[in-house]
Amino acid sequence: MSRSRTAILAALALVAGASGTALAVVPGSSGIAAIPCTVDYKVQNQWDSGFTTAVTITNNSAAKTSWSLKWSYAGNQRVTNGWNAKVTQSGTAVTAANESYNGALATGGSVSFGFQGSYSGSNALPTAFTLDGVACNVDNGSGTPTDPGTPTDPGTPTDPGTPTDPGTPSGKVDNPFVGAKGYVNPEWSAHAAAEPGGSKVANQSTAVWLDRIAAINGVNGGMGLRAHLDEALKQKGSGQLVIQLVIYDLPGRDCAALASNGELGPTEIDKYKSQYIDPIASILADSKYAGLRIATVIEPDSLPNLVTNAGGTAGSTDACATMKANGNYEKGVSYALDKLGAISNVYNYIDAGHHAWLGWDSNFDPTVQEFYKVATTNGASVNDVTGFIVNTANYGATTEPYVKITDSVNGQTVRQSKWIDWNWYVDEQSFAQALRTKLVAAGFNSGLGMLVDTSRNGWGGSARPTAAGPTTSVDAYVNGGRIDRRIHAGNWCNQSGAGLGERPKSAPAAGIDAYVWVKPPGESDGASSAIPNDEGKGFDRMCDPTYGGNARNGNNPTGALPNSPLAGKWFSAQFQQLLQNAYPPVS
Ligand code: BGC
Repeated sequence: MSRSRTAILAALALVAGASGTALAVVPGSSGIAAIPCTVDYKVQNQWDSGFTTAVTITNNSAAKTSWSLKWSYAGNQRVTNGWNAKVTQSGTAVTAANESYNGALATGGSVSFGFQGSYSGSNALPTAFTLDGVACNVDNGSGTPTDPGTPTDPGTPTDPGTPTDPGTPSGKVDNPFVGAKGYVNPEWSAHAAAEPGGSKVANQSTAVWLDRIAAINGVNGGMGLRAHLDEALKQKGSGQLVIQLVIYDLPGRDCAALASNGELGPTEIDKYKSQYIDPIASILADSKYAGLRIATVIEPDSLPNLVTNAGGTAGSTDACATMKANGNYEKGVSYALDKLGAISNVYNYIDAGHHAWLGWDSNFDPTVQEFYKVATTNGASVNDVTGFIVNTANYGATTEPYVKITDSVNGQTVRQSKWIDWNWYVDEQSFAQALRTKLVAAGFNSGLGMLVDTSRNGWGGSARPTAAGPTTSVDAYVNGGRIDRRIHAGNWCNQSGAGLGERPKSAPAAGIDAYVWVKPPGESDGASSAIPNDEGKGFDRMCDPTYGGNARNGNNPTGALPNSPLAGKWFSAQFQQLLQNAYPPVS
C-alpha cells in the first residue's frame, strides 16, 4: 500500500538533495526530433539494497493509444513494484506497459511512470530502450530536477511532503497493522468494562471517531485528539502501535439517512477544510507523534452515497443529489487524503461501503471510478491512499461458511435467491478482495490493502446455523445456511441478533491488511425515536423497530433494537447482546 507512495515521496524529497544519478545526455547526431522517442531514466533514490526511479518517455512519432517500453539490466536489479505503468520483469528484461488511464501518447507528448527495485553490487543504468519495438534515444531533458512529475501525482506545491515526511523508503510500511498492537481507547474500554462480562473484551482496540470539530479538543471534558495520541504513546512503549481515527464531518453528512447527520451544512466545505481537516493534520504532523502509526478511516458512506443514492434510483435522496451536484463530498475527501496522506506516519483508508450495497455491477464499477476520480483530483494522489475499508459500522458477515456465491440448488444459482438478489457477493471478505483487484486495475497502487470492520458481524449465539440449508429451493438453502440473520441485508441500525465478530487481527487473508473494530461495539447507530440534540443528528426510522422500511431495504422491517439512544451514545442492551452472540465466542 504505501510502498509506492513512499517511493514517490522519496523521489520528491531526495532530488532536492541532488543525490539522484541521471543518465548522461546522448543526443542523436541527427537531432532529437528525428528520433522516434526519447527516454529519461533517472534513479531518484538509492540505498544499499534498493532504489526508486522516475522514467519519462517522450514520443516523437505518430500518436499512440497504448505503449510498451522495454529495457534490460546488466546487473541483478529486480523491479518490485511500479506506479503509473504495469512494470513486469522476466530475467533481466523489463517491460513497462501503460495503465488503462495513460495509454494515450500524442506526437510530442510525454508520459511518466516510476518503480521501486532491489539490487546488490552496482545499480548500473540500462543503456538501451525500445518503445513498441523501436529504439529510443536516451535523454534526461524532460521533467525538472526538482519535480519529475507524473500524470497522477504531479508533485504540486500542495503535496510536497512535509518536514516530518522525509520519504525514506522505511518511512511507511506496507501494512501498518503488522507487528503493531492496537490502541485501546480508554473511554470505550471503561464503558465496556462496566458491563457484565465486558472486561473480557475491554482490552480490544477500537477506533476513535472525530465526529465533529469539537472532538478535536474533546467534547464535554472528554479526550481530544492530543489526549488520545499522548495515551497512544504510553501504550506503545518501545514497540509499534497503530491508532485508528475516523474522519467523519463532511458537509451535508450522511445524506441518505438521518441518524448521523452532522454539524456542517451542505455548502460548508471551507469550514470543513480550515476548522476540521487542517487542525487534525497539524496535530498528526507533530513530530512528537511520529513514532505512532496512524490509520485513518475516511468519511464512511460518503462516496458510495454519491454513486448509488444521488439520483436516478429508488433509494436516491435530495440531500445526496445536492452533495453530488455541489461536489463537496468529493472536494472534502480529496482534501483529507491530500493533507493527511502527506504525513509520513498516516495511512489513509477510504470507506467503501459493503457488499450488500455495492456488490452489483451497476454499482461496483461506478464506485471504482468514483474512488479513482477523488483520489486523483484536488491535490490528492493514489499515493495518498493506503487502502479501503468495507463494512464500517455495518453487520455483513466476513465470510459466509455455508453459502458461496458459486453454489446452485437444483440447477438454479443462489444469486437468484431473495436474500442475495443477483448480487455478486455473499460476504465482506470476497467483496473486499474483488474490489481491491478492480481498484488496482483502475490505477491504485498494487500494494493496496483492505480493512474489514468486524466489530459487530459475528452472528453467533443460538440462531447461528451450523450447516448448509435444505436444498429444496434457492431461498430455503440461502435462508437456512446464512449466518447473517438480518431481515434484509440493507438493514443497518442496531441490528437485533448481531454479535461481536472476529477480534482485531492483522493480515488475516490475502489482500486484507486487518480485521478492525471501527464501530465501537455498544455505541448506538441511531435513536429509535426522535431525541433533541445539538449535533445535527436526525431521527431515522430505520432505527425504529416498528417501521416497515424504505426502498433501500426493500421495504422490510428494520430489525432494529428498541429504546436506542442517539448515534454514538452508549447502548447497554446492544453491548450485552453483542457479547452474548459473539462469534468467535468470548471466553
Ligand atoms: C455517530 C458518531 C459516532 C460514531 C461511533 C456514528 O454513527 O454518528 O457520532 O461517533 O457512530 O459510535
